[in-house]
Amino acid sequence: MTATTPALDELDRRYVFHPFTPPGAHERDGGPAMIVSGKGSTLTAADGRTYLDAMAGLWCVNVGYGRPELAETLREQALRLPYYHGFSHMATDTPALLAERIVALTGDLGMEKVFFGSSGSDANDTQVKLVWHYNNLLGRPEKKKIIARHRGYHGVTVASASLTGLPAMHAQFDLPLPQVRHVTPPYSLWERQPGEDDAAFVARLAAELEERIVAEGPETVAAFIAEPVQAAGGVLPPPEGYFPAIQAVLRKHDVLLIADEVVSGFGRLGSWFGSQLLGIEPDLMTIAKGVTSAYVPLSGVLVSGRVWEMLAQDGGAFQHGYTYSAHPLAAAAALTNLEIVERDGLVEQAARRGERLRSELHAAFADHELVGEVRGIGLVAALEFVARRGERPVRFDPALTVGARVTRACLERGMITRALPAADTISFSPPFVITDAEIDTIVAVAREAVDQVADELARERA
Ligand SMILES: Cc1ncc(COP(=O)(O)O)c(C=O)c1O
Repeated sequence: MTATTPALDELDRRYVFHPFTPPGAHERDGGPAMIVSGKGSTLTAADGRTYLDAMAGLWCVNVGYGRPELAETLREQALRLPYYHGFSHMATDTPALLAERIVALTGDLGMEKVFFGSSGSDANDTQVKLVWHYNNLLGRPEKKKIIARHRGYHGVTVASASLTGLPAMHAQFDLPLPQVRHVTPPYSLWERQPGEDDAAFVARLAAELEERIVAEGPETVAAFIAEPVQAAGGVLPPPEGYFPAIQAVLRKHDVLLIADEVVSGFGRLGSWFGSQLLGIEPDLMTIAKGVTSAYVPLSGVLVSGRVWEMLAQDGGAFQHGYTYSAHPLAAAAALTNLEIVERDGLVEQAARRGERLRSELHAAFADHELVGEVRGIGLVAALEFVARRGERPVRFDPALTVGARVTRACLERGMITRALPAADTISFSPPFVITDAEIDTIVAVAREAVDQVADELARERA
């Protein structure tokens, strides 16, 4: 313990209102760690303890902590030009360079423009407003509904929390907005019917979407939003053929597709974008997190030629923008971050490390009594815990909080994972610079933690 630790903990408890945290409990008891520094994939707390960060913060510190190149870029840019805005035709240089770079990285996905923001949530709010504006311009003001998926995670602002398909994020705020609908996600473990293969499962999900669009009236449905791989909702890689089947339905009914690449963009799935990997042909894309590896906040809405054409015909201004849209400091950080990712071959590395992580997780947990599924794609993976395994698995009583207990047991052993909401699932999404040895540690620590919780549960049952 350093002399400063109690004081910092005390300040935090007294003055900081934490996101996604019970306020009273935190004010009373504080939290498990005050992180004060990081290097590579390791964080250090004020009390000197170190933690292997198997989540890259919140799926975002892709190039790892403590990169001197990023620190230098931030210093240089802050001295040269910390800020100027992009309203009313004004421009700064780094967002222009970055937008060109991002459009190039999307390759043949057809993206042409970038509207910058600061968070995934504000970018998805922009998406909603853009889609509404687009249909107003097209003279079809009734075409405004957005279909998302249960367990999708798209953020926390009023519109993006509405798109998010997690009931706990609606209840406190009387959401979702009336224009939002949710359909079944491609969650194989629970949604696939016995004996259903990929093709049949996909056909059923596409049929459900089409029935929903028809029931609502296609003239009222503007867009469908989806993460290539649902991340916070459970780490749910879609079955083969899912997006092509969904897209066929959307095209038939003239519904735009928004690919929310906030987690999957910039290499997390072992390709620059999830859309490229999974055959997605989006009209709009949302980016954030990995674009700067979270060194500073930055997000973006990528706009395809088809949508842009319509917007550009309008003589008036797009009545939307944030003080921090096209922030020159954030854009400078993004340019350096993307240079690092390219220079060090980190997209390919994420693919390789991901393969190792998944194969080791399978080896360690495929037969574990507590584990109903080991799943993942690229450098994201998850373990889902079940009360009974097999053809017809049975969920744990949520009151047992099995996922949270495993996460706590990992933390006690110096490793950070994440218990995902509304599921007994823990996720892994380490920095792309995670080493093979650190992956071995992640799996070994996870195994000890799961064994500990399995023993506890057996004792509680006895
Ligand atoms: C897919 C996806 N979209 C949007 C968001 C919201 O981003 P932010 O937390 O930056 O508002 C997240 C955050 O985790 C996300 O995972």
